This record gives sequence, C-alpha cells and structure tokens, in this order.
Amino acid sequence: MASSYSSSIRTWAFVLLLLHLSSSFNNLAAKHGSSIKHGSSAKHGSSITRHHHHNHLPIKAITNPRLHNAYIALQAWKNAIYSDPKNFTTNWVGPSVCNYTGVYCAPFPHDTKIQVVAGIDLNHADIAGFLPDELGLLSELALIHLNSNRFCGIIPQTLANLTLLFELDLSNNRFVGPFPSVILSLPTLRYLDLRFNEFEGPLPPQLFTKKFDAIFLNDNLFTSMIPSNLGSSSATVVVFANNKFGGCLPPSIADFANSLEEFIMTNTSLLGCLPHEVGFLYKLRVLDVSYNKIVGPIPYSIAGLAHLEQLNLAHNMMSGIVPEGICVLPNLENFTISYNFFCEEEGICCNLTSKGIAFDDRRNCLPEKPLQRTKKVCEAALEHPVDCFEYHCAATATAGATTPSPLPPSHS
Ligand SMILES: *[C@@H]1O[C@H](CO)[C@@H](O)[C@H](O)[C@H]1NC(C)=O
Ligand SMILES: *[C@@H]1O[C@H](CO)[C@@H](O)[C@H](O)[C@H]1NC(C)=O
Ligand SMILES: *[C@@H]1O[C@H](CO)[C@@H](O)[C@H](O)[C@H]1NC(C)=O
Ligand SMILES: *[C@@H]1O[C@H](CO)[C@@H](O)[C@H](O)[C@H]1NC(C)=O
Ligand SMILES: *[C@@H]1O[C@H](CO)[C@@H](O)[C@H](O)[C@H]1NC(C)=O
Ligand SMILES: *[C@@H]1O[C@H](CO)[C@@H](O)[C@H](O)[C@H]1NC(C)=O
Repeated sequence: MASSYSSSIRTWAFVLLLLHLSSSFNNLAAKHGSSIKHGSSAKHGSSITRHHHHNHLPIKAITNPRLHNAYIALQAWKNAIYSDPKNFTTNWVGPSVCNYTGVYCAPFPHDTKIQVVAGIDLNHADIAGFLPDELGLLSELALIHLNSNRFCGIIPQTLANLTLLFELDLSNNRFVGPFPSVILSLPTLRYLDLRFNEFEGPLPPQLFTKKFDAIFLNDNLFTSMIPSNLGSSSATVVVFANNKFGGCLPPSIADFANSLEEFIMTNTSLLGCLPHEVGFLYKLRVLDVSYNKIVGPIPYSIAGLAHLEQLNLAHNMMSGIVPEGICVLPNLENFTISYNFFCEEEGICCNLTSKGIAFDDRRNCLPEKPLQRTKKVCEAALEHPVDCFEYHCAATATAGATTPSPLPPSHS
C-alpha cells in the first residue's frame, strides 16, 4: 500500500477526530499516570432485558449501497445489545444511519461525493451486548471507540474487512479469549487499546512488527513475554502493565529504540536482570518496571537516556549501587527505587530532592538513610549476589516456555 494512501487515511481520520470525537479521544501522549487508568465507567447493575427490534428497512430510501450495508450492520448490532441504560442506541431506527447517536459519517476518501460510516464512538455508554459478525459490513470505518461498556464475548473474525481502520479502542469491556489475531490483519491500524478486558494467553510475535503508534494491553490475563526476536517496532507508547507475562525483558527490547517513549511494565511478573539494551531506547521519557521480580543492578546504560523523566524501579529485588549518571540526567523528574536491596547511592543520588526531583528510596539497604530494611534482611540478601551473565532466562526464548526459578542462582 502506497504511503501517500495511508497518510491520506491518517489525515482523514484525524480530521474526523477533531470534528466529532475530540472529547473522547484518548490522548496518545497520555502521561504515565493516566496511561493505565481504568476510565470512569459507571458499572451499574445490569438489568438484562433483551430488546426486540422490528425495524423494516425502506430499501428505496437508501440509494448509497455502503450506507445500506451500514444499516444492516447497525441493526444487527442493536439486536446484539441486551442493555443500553443511557439510551445511546434508542434512535438507531430507520435508514438515516448518519444520524444515529455515536455513528459518524464522512466523505469516502476514494470518492468524496459519497458519505460512509467512518467512526463509531460509544465510549462510556455502559452497553451490555456482543459484537455481531455483521460489523464486517462497516468496511469504511476508521475509528471504533467502545471504552467503558459491557461488551462481552470474542472479537469477530469479520473485522478483517475493516481495511481502513486506524484506531481500535475496546478498553474496559468484558472481551475474552486469546489475543484477537484478526487485529494483525488490519493494514492501517495505528492505535490499539485492549486494556481492562479478559484476554488471555500469549501475545503473537507479529504484534511487534505492525506499524502501531500506541499499544495498550494492560490489565488483561496475557501470559507470555515479548518474543526474543522482535523485528523493528514503531510504537511510541507501550503499556503492558498488570498482566502475567513472566520471563525476562529480552535484549530484543532494543528493536523499539527508534520509537519508544513510554514503556510501562509494572506488575507483569518480570524476572531476571534488566538487559543493558534498555539503555538503547534513547527516546524514552517514562520507564516503569515496578512490582516485578527483577534482580541485579541498574544497568549503567540507563544513564544515557537523556529524555528520561520518570524512572520507576520500585518493588523489585534489585541490588548494588545507584549510579550518579542516572541522578544527573537532565530531564529527570521522578526516580523511585523503594522496596529493593540497593546498598549505596553515588554522589548527588543521596540528595536528589534538593534538586527538585521526586525521589523515593525507602525500604532498601542504605545505611545512611531512614526507613530502610533491617540489617538481618539486608545481610541475607548480600550473601546471594546476582551474576547477570550467569542468569539464564529460558522463558524469553519461546512463548510459554518453562518458567525459571524466581530466585537467582547463588554465586558459588
Ligand atoms: C431511557 O429511555 C427510557 C424509556 O424511554 C427512560 O425511562 C429512561 O429514563 C431513559 N434513560 C436515560 C438515561 O435517558
Ligand atoms: C438527520 O439530521 C439532520 C441534521 O440534524 C436533519 O436535517 C435531517 O432531517 C435528519 N434526517 C433524518 C432522516 O432524520
Ligand atoms: C466486506 O465489505 C464489503 C463492502 O466493502 C461487503 O460487500 C462484504 O460483504 C463485507 N464482508 C464481510 C465478511 O462482512
Ligand atoms: C497486579 O496484577 C494483578 C493481576 O494480574 C492484580 O490482581 C494485582 O492487584 C496487581 N497488583 C498491583 C500492585 O497493582
Ligand atoms: C513519582 O513516581 C511514583 C511512582 O510512579 C509515584 O507514586 C509518585 O506519586 C510520583 N511523585 C510525584 C511527585 O509525581
Ligand atoms: C542536600 O542539599 C542541600 C542543598 O544543596 C543541602 O543544604 C543539604 O545539606 C544536603 N543534604 C545532605 C544530606 O547532603
């Protein structure tokens, strides 16, 4: 596909966003905190009342076959809705699909004289239902926003027909099943948000070779780590927090170097040492690997990340010295190392708050600092130093491979 074509789709999608969806657009440059928020869904008790619809299409009224297809798809969808407490779909009646709440039409990019359904925005509708196969008829869609509803079931395979889809936000619903592989066949998809669902199993390696700008998969039940062979990824924001990946962060993380700015891996059961390749991610602004089982020292290469603003290593089993090179990073705003086993802070690292940097070093083994771990716990940890060259992490090689012991091999 010619790049001018995909860029015209991109422009089209953004114009649409600005015109209609600005209030609900998930800001790609969302700051760390907001990147993994749940949305503000009001989870009402669901009164499961099946609506019966008897809309007979006055065929002659729709002369545009694309809008006719859209009519069929949207009526099928309305029939697949059990509960719509905010009445979003009450006016989904009759042939004027462009007037339906949450449905946005725009001129077709290939033939601007005709109108097509280009966007669906049902964010925060609290609708219970499922996605019917007929959604494949909405083949001109550029945007689907379904944040904070109660849609359940699996993602239909017919979505492969949505060859112009640019943004897919299914976040905060009740979708289940393996990673919806149909997504990988969508040639123009740039923004993928599946967070807060119940997807499970391994991530397909192809996910990392797609030209995505942002990938949000946090708060699901995914189990396998990033594959050891990535190819070059284009994602700027990757949020995988609160899954059950296990395994180590592979050196292939370096394949994200030309794009990655925010990398959120908090609470993903990561093991082993941080690879020094993390320091190759020269565009990083936010790195969060907190609440894992990472061992070993802070890779000194992180001191080369000139754009780094937030570094969160809290609640791991890391040890050794906190290098001054990181504490003097020019853009550092917040550095958190609490709940580890660090035993020394170099130079200015002892007094970072005096530079106006948020810094938390509680519950380590820093002899000069308050609120540290007990001497007994620290001595026990020091008896088992970690040799990162010796530490092999089998789980990164293949998806779902054997899980290594959570405890590092002790130095002999
Ligand atoms: C939705 O429509 C029903 C029936 O017309 C009405 O009773 C209810 O108050 C409406 N709910 C909202 C949130 O407007
Ligand atoms: C659709 O909405 C437009 C603008 O609000 C209105 O002029 C038009 O009559 C509506 N069409 C139908 C069939 O309701
Ligand atoms: C795919 O879209 C075309 C229209 O662009 C339609 O004719 C066809 O039935 C759709 N296929 C599926 C599986 O929905
Ligand atoms: C970590 O993720 C699990 C689900 O995988 C969740 O139950 C738990 O609350 C999370 N812990 C934290 C500290 O966020
Ligand atoms: C610094 O980051 C930690 C961990 O993300 C967070 O809990 C804390 O609120 C942040 N501090 C400031 C001042 O932003
Ligand atoms: C930290 O820095 C401030 C300002 O530079 C200084 O006044 C203070 O004595 C320092 N504290 C320590 C413990 O070095």
